[in-house]
Amino acid sequence: MCGIVGAVAERDVVPILMEGLRRLEYRGYDSAGLVALDDDGDLKRAREVGKVAALAEALDSNPVHGRIGIAHTRWATHGAPAERNAHPQFSSNELALVHNGIIENHSALRDSLKAKGYRFLSDTDTEVVAHRIHEHMQTRGDLLASVQEAVRELDGAYALAVMDRRDPERIITARQGCPVVIGIGIGEHFVASDIAALLPVTRRFIFLEEGDVAELRREGVRIFDRNGQAVERRETESQLSADAVERGEYRHYMLKEIHEQPNAVAETLEERVTHDHLLAAAFGPDAERLLAEVEGVHIIACGTSYHAGMIARYQIEQLAGLPCNVEIASEYRYRDPVVPERHLFVCISQSGETADTLAALRLAGEKGYLARLAICNVPESSMVRESDLVLMTRAGPEIGVASTKAFTTQLSALALLALALGKAHGRLDAEAEANAVAELRALPTAIEAALELDGPIEKLAEHLVHRHHALFLGRGVHYPVAMEGALKLKEISYIHAEAYAAGELKHGPLALVDEDMPIIAVAPSDALLEKIRSNLEEVRARGGELIVFSDAESGFLPDERTHVIALPRAGGPLTAPAIFTIPLQLLAYHVAVHKGTDVDKPRNLAKSVTVE
Ligand code: G6P
Repeated sequence: MCGIVGAVAERDVVPILMEGLRRLEYRGYDSAGLVALDDDGDLKRAREVGKVAALAEALDSNPVHGRIGIAHTRWATHGAPAERNAHPQFSSNELALVHNGIIENHSALRDSLKAKGYRFLSDTDTEVVAHRIHEHMQTRGDLLASVQEAVRELDGAYALAVMDRRDPERIITARQGCPVVIGIGIGEHFVASDIAALLPVTRRFIFLEEGDVAELRREGVRIFDRNGQAVERRETESQLSADAVERGEYRHYMLKEIHEQPNAVAETLEERVTHDHLLAAAFGPDAERLLAEVEGVHIIACGTSYHAGMIARYQIEQLAGLPCNVEIASEYRYRDPVVPERHLFVCISQSGETADTLAALRLAGEKGYLARLAICNVPESSMVRESDLVLMTRAGPEIGVASTKAFTTQLSALALLALALGKAHGRLDAEAEANAVAELRALPTAIEAALELDGPIEKLAEHLVHRHHALFLGRGVHYPVAMEGALKLKEISYIHAEAYAAGELKHGPLALVDEDMPIIAVAPSDALLEKIRSNLEEVRARGGELIVFSDAESGFLPDERTHVIALPRAGGPLTAPAIFTIPLQLLAYHVAVHKGTDVDKPRNLAKSVTVE
């Protein structure tokens, strides 16, 4: 989604803003812009449609310098991607503002501002906020007070950074519903929507709370809560290094992140399992007692994280014998969910900021759940801060829009949850626990072995490049794996791909099968192997081309219409879904590379969807 960076310093801040924008680009963007106050006290702005690189080129021809500035990457919500709609938005060439989020009452505010003579040059809700603050400046003359006044009138979600040439020493920032982090330097201060933007300049951060407004000067930061009271917010030191988000030798972040999975999974399991048992402390000090009380689980998430939840359902039901519902957050939040007694709410999110999942977590807070657990990859995120229990995935920053290592680390964390619930409910004896833990500990090596299949999968990908559609099939726990495979392919290669539970084939999708419809099947040798084998025979009988991901024991044999990729280590019920995801990620990746799409930043998509 949109990204914000701002800086006030003794030095020229434009290079800091540009580096910050580059580091935020992964969140999704369609235009970028920045403004700095030059030494003559004028606001100098540059905005370009397209990538941050386009803005950099524009700045090469028309340089901008200044010691205070704000910048933005935009993902259009109100108004098409066009220069006039890019941020920073101005009011009267005096005030500049960048904004993430959506202002819901922008229409009423716009009418009243128009009546007062304000001219609108964009279609954005953001310009409304700029004019509103400007209007307050006319009477108050103080930027902080004007922002505080204006944000009280806003409905919706926002992260804002504002500067004004009439108040040239400070940036004011505000948060409601979208994250804002302040970076602490020595004689310089920064603001951003994500710490990734600021890692090259600092590791010291303060996260604003909902409703906070903050003032950044060179010498210091002051923070005020929604009532205007000065407050202290805790400073944290990030362990991430600036190069944690570098691409290194890899052609794309996605490929780098696919290859980081053995390590990311190992880190997620670390200190949570010993050689033969799950550590009770993995879910926090009080969790053991709490998990024993759980009588059912509701899992809520979006996108790839939702698929992780669907996989966990099979494992929780099997290992813990507990009912488990899994639902898309944007649906859950607008139902009136009926919550039976002693149910555990689980939200899964890479970013911890996805608007629908966060809203679902908040709704769950009113519904009398036993507890709310967040499985999340960003320690400083809203979901982590607002949940009762937290299990961090330790994937490290994920930059590619198509989620890879976040997914397999979520699966690892969820496997731990299934085990912990099974144990708490007395369904797992020491031997079963030791076996499950051994299976989990072998997962990084099994993923490494799956990554070795890169060569044959790349060859296979050539086959799919000119196809317009693909069907993915799986059964049982591998049905959601097939869904994730289809999502990966459509996200980055733009090939229309759908997943079906293979048992449903006869109920409709079989009608689509002909020589132009590749069928990609996830078919390990498990209890459902013979079932899916019959389903695939139905496809073959109709001339369909099969791509089967399986293992040596399954006995699938290749022929001119059947390609078989056999995984060297198939894993057991807890780990097979993660292992079989690897070839599907590689397949989508190579198809996209062959097609020449923008793998890391697919069109129309955003990494972190912080608006509805
Ligand atoms: C976006 C991303 C997906 C991600 C989904 C949920 O659509 O492009 O990769 O799965 O959001 O994000 P979350 O951060 O909540 O896991």
